[in-house]
Amino acid sequence: MARLVRTEATGPIKIDPQEKPIFICACGLSAKFPFCDGTHKVCREEQAGTLYRYDPATKTVTSTSPDA
Ligand code: FES
Repeated sequence: MARLVRTEATGPIKIDPQEKPIFICACGLSAKFPFCDGTHKVCREEQAGTLYRYDPATKTVTSTSPDA
């Protein structure tokens, strides 16, 4: 079984107040999900109106298509 999850976040969700901040992954690419590991930086160049597909192992874009 496979699952394609759609998310438009390009950074984490910060949880406050804590002794120290906790960052929850909102981009869906973290290897340490549900915690942010910084992988969201690969989303910085994404353009509005485009759907990006990422290789789950390498976190690189495998294909793009218009976002309907
Ligand atoms: S928000 Fe997903 S890795 Fe940071």
